[in-house]
Amino acid sequence: MSKAVAINGSPRMEKGNTAMVLAPFIQGMMDAGSDVELFYASRLKVKPCTCSEMYCWYKSPGECYIKDDMELLYPQLRGADIFILATPVYIPLPGEMQKIINRLCPLLEPLLETRQGRTRGRFRKGVEVREIVLVSTGGWWEIGNFGTVLRIAQELAADASVEFAGAVLRPHAFLMKKGGKLTKDGEDVLKEVRRAGYELVKEGVMRKETLEAISRPLISEDELRHRYNRAL
Ligand SMILES: Cc1cc2nc3c(=O)[nH]c(=O)nc-3n(C[C@H](O)[C@H](O)[C@H](O)COP(=O)(O)O)c2cc1C
Repeated sequence: MSKAVAINGSPRMEKGNTAMVLAPFIQGMMDAGSDVELFYASRLKVKPCTCSEMYCWYKSPGECYIKDDMELLYPQLRGADIFILATPVYIPLPGEMQKIINRLCPLLEPLLETRQGRTRGRFRKGVEVREIVLVSTGGWWEIGNFGTVLRIAQELAADASVEFAGAVLRPHAFLMKKGGKLTKDGEDVLKEVRRAGYELVKEGVMRKETLEAISRPLISEDELRHRYNRAL
């Protein structure tokens, strides 16, 4: 059975749009037989990395000198095959999510290689993660708006020498609900999200058509801009 760890970086946690999209994704993965553990970055007490000497590489290999809730997360991450980074776009990331990403250094080997002109590392022996997947929601209209967050997830996978398994991206996610209830479009999108989670585990890949159905526009760009700019 595959095992996955998801970290939801939204400060709005269960009430947020990211949670709304992440829940069916996890459900789809579980339908396909995966065991998924979910953490909220804002619920964990994680201090920022303050070490400039790579203590976790040289002084105490594989171990962070800061003792906080990362101690709960490290063993979970070490034992997971799939790491799901779930986050809203926050120009670019919420601080709590960024802190956790910075604290992943103990999971990496102190062995840098140059690949295609870039310095890359790899996960230590004993870290089972073989792929990283991104689940992200944004408020603006276009999918290009996820560019920086997408790049961060791709860079993280490349730095750890694991596969980037793709991204579930939902722009103007708030429009999936009206008056606190899912719209028909919202329901349809979440069905596709569940399918994506299922495909990832069952087929090892999320299909392009599924990802496109998840990210499709729910409104025209002009109309959305008009809604945002109504206060002007
Ligand atoms: C500080 C902040 C910055 C944001 N920056 C962006 C942005 O650059 N692009 C975007 O599409 N949405 C942006 N948004 C909107 C959120 O990404 C969007 O509403 C998201 O779905 C919120 O997810 P959540 O409810 O899980 O927190 C921003 C929201 C906040 C509060």
